[in-house]
Amino acid sequence: MKKLLAALLFIICCNTIHAQQSKDIQLKAPQKKAGAKVMQAFNERKSTRSFDSKELDLQTISNLLWAANGINRPDGKRTAPSALNRQEVDIYVCLKSGAYFYNPQENKLKYISDAQCLQRNAPLTLYLAAKVENDIWAYVDTGIVSQNISVFAAAFGLGTVPQGRMDKEKVREALNLPQEKQLILNHPVGYPAKDK
Ligand SMILES: Cc1cc2nc3c(=O)[nH]c(=O)nc-3n(C[C@H](O)[C@H](O)[C@H](O)COP(=O)(O)O)c2cc1C
Repeated sequence: MKKLLAALLFIICCNTIHAQQSKDIQLKAPQKKAGAKVMQAFNERKSTRSFDSKELDLQTISNLLWAANGINRPDGKRTAPSALNRQEVDIYVCLKSGAYFYNPQENKLKYISDAQCLQRNAPLTLYLAAKVENDIWAYVDTGIVSQNISVFAAAFGLGTVPQGRMDKEKVREALNLPQEKQLILNHPVGYPAKDK
């Protein structure tokens, strides 16, 4: 009987893991040569708080995440610098289909849950979370990732705003955020609303 129960448990576990994996989203390779000139992007950078309902395609999402904090060198270092190369800033992605974790090594969105965690009606929201040590660097490093997102958005005709204010309890639950990580900023991202 014990063996039967153990076998059943094993099958249920395998099925759950498989179901979760099948909801992962494999991103396309980032287009590293696309985009406007950097000075033009700085000139366009501003906060946008109203969004069109148009979805972002997977290529744009891939490019955005890579620019934000993807891997740009064979030794695993990132597009965003980090103090002591801690690479502690993680990006969580909310889409209409649910919440995901950006895994830069696999260039994949790992499915977390069906939770709805979009901000300001944008079609996508990025949450920047990090394990904060006994110093300021996690906050500094998060600011750098945030600026990568803002400059990318400006270069590609997208809108975004860095936001410190959010319902952290609700978001933490939606993202199934590990206790040791702090939610620091979020970025709704989308095409700016037409009348703004
Ligand atoms: C660390 C940080 C936190 C912010 N938090 C919020 C926020 O919670 N809500 C919001 O609407 N804007 C937020 N902003 C955006 C600022 O209000 C905005 O950058 C500022 O008004 C200047 O406007 P600009 O980005 O268009 O130049 C934040 C900006 C930073 C850098």
